[in-house]
Amino acid sequence: MSIHSRILGTGSYLPPETVSNDDLAARLARDGIETSDAWIVERTGIRQRHFAGPGVGSVDLGEHAARRALQDAGLQAQDIDLIIVATSTPDMIFPSNAALIQGRLGCPGGAVFDVQAVCAGFIYALSVADQFVRSGSVRHALVIGTEVFSQILDFSDRATCVLFGDGAGAVVLGPGERGGVLSSALHGDGRQASILCTPGRIEGGKVSGRPFLHMDGQAVFKQAVHVLEGVAREVLDKAGRTAADVDWMVPHQANIRIMLHTAKKLGIAAERVVQTVAWHGNTSAASIPLALDTAVRAGQVRRGQTLLLEAVGGGLTWGAALLEF
Ligand code: UT7
Repeated sequence: MSIHSRILGTGSYLPPETVSNDDLAARLARDGIETSDAWIVERTGIRQRHFAGPGVGSVDLGEHAARRALQDAGLQAQDIDLIIVATSTPDMIFPSNAALIQGRLGCPGGAVFDVQAVCAGFIYALSVADQFVRSGSVRHALVIGTEVFSQILDFSDRATCVLFGDGAGAVVLGPGERGGVLSSALHGDGRQASILCTPGRIEGGKVSGRPFLHMDGQAVFKQAVHVLEGVAREVLDKAGRTAADVDWMVPHQANIRIMLHTAKKLGIAAERVVQTVAWHGNTSAASIPLALDTAVRAGQVRRGQTLLLEAVGGGLTWGAALLEF
C-alpha cells in the first residue's frame, strides 16, 4: 500500500511583544513619517503584529513552535528523521536554522536543511518533506516556518514597515494510509527578483548592498492575484477535486484583499478562509503554519477536513498544497 504523508501535529509561537498600528504610527511619527491605523487596516487588514525584540532570533521562535508541534503529535524529538526550516531571516549565514534547531532539540542524526523561498517557503518546505515521507526514506519530518522580519525592516519606508511581523509555525509530517498531502505545486520566476528583495550580502566582513526589505507593493499585488488563483486550480486539478471540496483555505497572510480576492475567484466563501493577518501581520514563511495552528487550536480546522494552502513571495516564488488534515 502506498504511503501518504499526514500532518500529525501543529504548533506555533509568537513573541510576547505586540505592536498595534497606533503604536507603530507613533514610532514613525517621531521621525516625521505619517501613517495611520485607518490606512493600514483599509489597505491590508492588519491591526497588530508581534516583534521579537533585540537578541531574539528565528531559531528561538522556531524551537518553541517545533516543541509544540511535537507535543501535539505525541512524539519525541528523537522520532524526527528530517527537519526542514523555511526562513529568509536565519540566525546565521551557516549553519542552517534546521541544524541549529536540531541541536536545541537534541535529536542528532537526521537530515537538516533550510529552504529559502521567502513567503512561499513553507509550501516549498512542506512539498519537499512530503516527497521524503511518501517515498518512505524518512518516517517523521518537522517542517518549520520561522521569521524575524522586524530585523530587516526599513522603518523609514512606511510602504513596507507596517506590513510585517515576527513568528513561527511548525507541523510534524508522518506516514499514514489515507489523506494527508493530496497534491502540491511549486513555481518561480527569477526575472521578477527585484520587485521583492533584501539586496544585502556579506563581503569581506562587511555588509554590502542594502540589507533591508524592498518591495514594489503594487507589482507584487498584481502578480499575487494572478498566480495564486492559477496554482490553487492546479493543485485542485491534480488531486481530482474542486473548490467545492475545500473546507478551509489557509492562505499566506499578506493582505486581506489578496486573500479574499483569490478566494472569491475560486468560489470559496470568505467564511471558509482562515484569517489571522489582522493579529499577526505578514510573517512570511511562518504565516501559513501559524495560521493553521491558530485555526486548529480555535477548533475551526478539524481532522478529516480538506485544506487548500497557497502563497506567493520574493523570487518570485509561489506554490500551493491541497491536503486532507
Ligand atoms: O508577502 C509577500 C507578498 N506580498 C504581498 O502580497 C504584498 C502585495 N502588495 C500589497 O499588499 C499592497 O500593494 C500594499 C499594502 C503594499 C500597498 O497597498 P496599495 O493599495 O497598493 O497602496 P499604494 O502602494 O498604491 O499606495 C497608495 C498611497 C500612496 O500615496 P499616493 O501616491 O496615492 O499619494 C502611498 O504613498 O498610500 C500611501 N502609503 C501610505 N499611506 C499611509 C503607502 N504606505 C502608507 C502607509 N500609511 N503606511
